[in-house]
Formats: sequence, structure tokens, C-alpha cells
Amino acid sequence: MRLLLSLFLIAVLPAWVCAQEKKAQSVPPIAVIDLRRTTPVLYDKEIEPILVNKCAVCHSDNIKEGKFDLGSYEALMKGGKHGAAVVPGRSADSLLVKLAGRTEKKFMPPKGEEPLTPEELALIKLWIDQGAKAPTARRGRPRAIVAAPPANVHPVLGVAISPDKKYIAASRGNQIHIYEAASGKHLRMLLDPQLTAPLPPPNSGGEKTNSALGSSGGKGEPIKAAHLSLVEALAYSPDGKTLASGAFGEVVLWDADKGILRGRLTGFADRVVALDFSHDGKLLATGGGAPTADGEIKIFDVASGKLAVEIKNGHSDTVFGVCFSPDDKKLAACAADKFVKVFELPSGKFLKAFEGHTHHVLGVGWSGDGKLLASAGADNVIKIWDFDKGEQLRTIIGHGKQITRLVFLGKSDQFATCSGDQTVRFWNINGSNTRNFGGSADFLYALAVSADGSLVAVGGQEGIVRVYNGANGQLLKQLLPPNAQPAKK
Ligand code: HEC
Repeated sequence: MRLLLSLFLIAVLPAWVCAQEKKAQSVPPIAVIDLRRTTPVLYDKEIEPILVNKCAVCHSDNIKEGKFDLGSYEALMKGGKHGAAVVPGRSADSLLVKLAGRTEKKFMPPKGEEPLTPEELALIKLWIDQGAKAPTARRGRPRAIVAAPPANVHPVLGVAISPDKKYIAASRGNQIHIYEAASGKHLRMLLDPQLTAPLPPPNSGGEKTNSALGSSGGKGEPIKAAHLSLVEALAYSPDGKTLASGAFGEVVLWDADKGILRGRLTGFADRVVALDFSHDGKLLATGGGAPTADGEIKIFDVASGKLAVEIKNGHSDTVFGVCFSPDDKKLAACAADKFVKVFELPSGKFLKAFEGHTHHVLGVGWSGDGKLLASAGADNVIKIWDFDKGEQLRTIIGHGKQITRLVFLGKSDQFATCSGDQTVRFWNINGSNTRNFGGSADFLYALAVSADGSLVAVGGQEGIVRVYNGANGQLLKQLLPPNAQPAKK
């Protein structure tokens, strides 16, 4: 007996301990619990908040990991790279449940992010087993993502070139970096002093990391960033003195010379994804809004920071582009509702709508004489419109994927576009493709071109900003995050 016991201790116990250790190291599946509930689980009230909290940073808006968009019910049901992730009535067969329940790789959310709780997983499963029903009522505003984006999310969503062509501003995640254009040298990061104070815990009370790209991070710790959430738009004022940045719920005005925060514009219902200064520099137009809710267009007086014009119900979905006409008397806007619309200033009165795009319209601009409009979007095409006649003149094809930005070269008939097809292109308003800029290796989101067309800066999923000579297409510089650069300052 004694012998048996010692044999057990020698042979079996160490193996058992070892197995336990292994188990503790590998990630266990999320516990399966029974909610004992028969009432319907409501998508908008119970499921969407979970997805917004724990998945949306990587699966909505401009970032759709695994080609999977969790930003709306429709997109969720469409699925991702591997097809439908939700099989109504069959939670056990649903990829989303397998990955988020950690029974199949790759686990979602990935390592380092806060996993679903057993209750959340059970709720999602029950909702799927009940048929994965669509939201019944018109949904309310989605909850704000107030947790900072995770460290591995760093696409460039905004770039701007100062009017004197000396500086290039680029946003990565929630940070804004300023570079010297000629040398490519990283000069500084713009920091919101409010964020360097300890943060309140994120809305989930979870352990989402507050760090982004080299910032300290950890729950409640200060973060080195320009905004709390992703910076999706940047614009220099015509005098070069102010840089405006747009993010969730706010626009910040920075002193461009000193790199310090000068003012904060608030009162936005959701993200601000488009910015444009009027040519006289007095006004700043902003576009954004919550998906499938009203598109938001607000115009601020730059000097006072006061709201000057609010265009209500201009669009029925997120506004992705705003652009002052060359004489500042009109504002063109484009949106996820597939429309380009033009409003009179300063009355804000609706003037004309241009219909023809078959998907989100992501960029819009005016020809130098203010007579024509160019717009482009997720249907991969550019459309040219005659403002006075209210007609479509032509459709320009060429890009192989969605066109994410459209920028006119100053007051001219030339414009530039960037696309998910990894190229930047110059066009003439008559439809000819005058130059292409290659070298990018992933989806492009952000584009800036100097007024004379000589300097082009573009950024996207890779987190790199490429700077080109607009006159000959030559790649001049690749701007990396500061921690990836050999020499700082
Ligand atoms: C930190 C970023 C991040 C977060 C947060 C995140 N995911 Fe993902 N997700 C990814 C990446 C990256 C992929 C692509 C993995 C691959 O293809 O290798 C992915 C892929 C997926 C896929 C597979 C799509 C397909 O068809 O290939 C599903 C399903 C998914 N995620 C669900 C979720 C859910 C549900 C949550 C929240 C509980 C979540 N993810 C949170 C980064 C994230």
C-alpha cells in the first residue's frame, strides 16, 4: 500500500501538477452558463452594447479585421472573411460564438483584450438560438467607445499638409504626430493634457488597455494621446496657424506652431470624420454622426469656437465629407446615405441633392470655378456633377476598391483620390487619370495634397505615411511612428 502511494506520488502527481500548470497557461474557454430565461433577448438593448464594448474597436468603421464589421446588425449578419459568423437558431454552429467563447481559434477578442464574461456569452448564444432577431425599434445612439483603442490599432486615418508645405500631420490610433516635410523628421506628438490625468475606468469597468503605441497604458493610468478615441480627420487652417483634429465627440484646435491644445469644440453626437476650413479661414465645417442615425454637419466660428451653423437632418447617415465651395458661399457634403448634397451658407438652407452613387460616398470636392463637383466612395467610382444643372456629367472608373478620400489640388480642375486598392491617383475633371502613386501595401484611408499639387501625403492600414513629389510621382519619404524611427528629434 505504502509502495503504491509513493509510486503515485512519484509518477502520477508530478504529471498531474504539470497538466494543471499547462491548463492554467493555455486560455480556457469562457464558462457556459444557463440564463434560465424565456423572454426575447433584444439586439439593440442587450447584444449591441456588448459588441460595441468589446469588439467594435477592431470591427467597425474604418477597421474591419477579418473583413468582419460589427457596426450594425446588417453587417454583423453578413459575416466576415469566412462567411456568416452567426447562424440563426444555431449558436453552437456560429463562428462568432466559437471564437468569442474560446472553443476555436483565433480567440476573440485577441490576447490582451478583455474577453466576454460568461453572462455576455450566454446572452449572445441565447439571442442566436432565439433566431438572431433584428432590432425592432429604430435604435438609439450607439454607446460611445470611450475606452482608448488597443495598442495594435494604429492605421493612419488622417493626414494634413501645412499650407507652407513645411509640416505634415498624421494621426495613428488616438495620437497625432507632426513631421518636418522636407527631412521626414518626427518633430512632436500633440498631447491633450486632460488625458495625462488619470482616467475614469472605461464604461465597461473592464480592463481594456488605455495604451496606444508606446504610451504607458493600464487601467486608469494617464495616456499619451491627442484624443481618447481614434483621430479620424485632420486639417490645417489656411494661415497654417491652427491644426484641427476630429475624433469621437470632439474636435480639438491646436496651436500649430507650439503644438499645444488651444480649444475644444464639443456637442457632437458621435464621431467627427470630416473637417474643412473655409478659404477665408473663418469657419470650420465638421461632418460625422452615428451610423444609420442623422448625419451631423456643424460649422464653427474658428476665432470664438462657437457653433455658427448647424445643418440638421441634412443627411440620414454618417457624413464622410464636407467641402466649402471656392467662394465659401456653399458647402458640399457626402454621406453613407449615398447622397451628395449642397447647402447654402450661412443660412444652411438645402440647395441640391445629387443621387447616383450606389454605396457610401466618402469624399467630395469642388472644381476651381465652383461649377462642378467631384465625389467618390465605396462603389469604387468617381462621379462628376454639374452643380447648376443638377446633373451627373460622368462616372470615372479606375480604382479597384473603395475610394476613401477625394481632394482637389487647390482651386483647380485636378483632384486626387486614395483607395483601398493601395493607390493614390491624380485625375482631371474630364476623367483622365494623370498620375498614379504606388508603393503602398495595404488599404489607404487618408490623403492630403498641397494646393499646388507638388506634395502628396497618404496613409492607411500600414500605419506608414508616404510622401510623394506630386509633379513626378517620386516617393520622397516614409513617415513612421516615432518609436519605429532610429533618431528622435
Ligand atoms: C484587438 C482587435 C480585435 C478585437 C477587440 C476583436 N477582434 Fe475579432 N478579429 C480581429 C482580427 C485581427 C481578426 C482576423 C483574424 C484572422 O483572420 O487571422 C478577427 C476576426 C474575427 C472573426 C472572424 C471573421 C472571419 O470571417 O474571418 C470573428 C467572428 C470575430 N473576429 C469576432 C469578434 C468578436 C465577437 C469580438 C468581440 C467579442 C472581437 N472579434 C473582438 C481582431 C479583433
